Amino acid sequence: MSRIAYVNGRYVPQREASVNVEDRGYQFADAVYEVVHVFNGSYVDEEPHLDRLERSLRELRIPMPMARIALRKVLREVVRRNRIREGLVYMQVSRGVARRDHAFPNEPIAPAIVITAKRIAPYQEDIGKWSGEAITQPDIRWGRCDIKTVGLLPNCLARQAAKEKGAIEAVLVDENGMVTEGAATNFWIVDAEGRLRTRHLDDHILAGVTRKALMALLKDENIVFEERAFSLEEARHAREAFITSATSFVKPILKLDGKPVGDGKAGPVVRRLHALFTRHVKGARNAA
Ligand code: PDD
Repeated sequence: MSRIAYVNGRYVPQREASVNVEDRGYQFADAVYEVVHVFNGSYVDEEPHLDRLERSLRELRIPMPMARIALRKVLREVVRRNRIREGLVYMQVSRGVARRDHAFPNEPIAPAIVITAKRIAPYQEDIGKWSGEAITQPDIRWGRCDIKTVGLLPNCLARQAAKEKGAIEAVLVDENGMVTEGAATNFWIVDAEGRLRTRHLDDHILAGVTRKALMALLKDENIVFEERAFSLEEARHAREAFITSATSFVKPILKLDGKPVGDGKAGPVVRRLHALFTRHVKGARNAA
């Protein structure tokens, strides 16, 4: 069965789906996106993803392609037509199609929207199998990483470098030796003193939906954490490390640049947070 994509108002077989060659997303990466996890037929954190989509669009002065209520309907239709219970839904909105010119078109143009969905293997609750290694890479991205744009070439290069080393993520390090985030995840540590930390939010990292959802769970459980940047050196001496994202949820990182983090096993903190987040995922009630 061919996958079905939603493209500017139509549901089409994905292999026939296409966008205009002068789409500004294609020409300039003038587009934003979201990835939402579907677990057992329900969306995980759908509303915060839609909030962030709206924010990214606002920051770039691209109008919403449709009202949120309509967007929710289309998301459900894409999931239904692709018969997905475990999967990832991808939505992308570009500024639209215009004769190539760096500045925005003078006349307002309609934003272009594409939504696709793919099946993934069911979430692996066994933390041993849900772990991986990371490498470090210089953070060579632009100054507005808080906007979830499709301009992901530095992220792709970093992920490729990780893949070539058998790692699942590249942890990005800025010119001051401070860790920003993963190529497609937020990065957390339990530092040498036992403090649970992740970098504070600003223009240099994405405000992860999973990061925020985990923080709400931490508050509920009275688990102390700090939003404070840490250096690569501190990460190298961490007791534990893990990544968060819509695709990874809470995923232990057992080695950094080939060297074990702590004792090289998923530690007590990440085990607890993984279990907490698994409960959150299983409690997702927004039917897809
Ligand atoms: N990536 N940081 C970056 C650079 C990301 O690309 C992502 C998500 C995150 C985590 O955000 P969230 O928890 O909202 O998924 C952090 C998605 C999954 C992707 O590009 O596929």
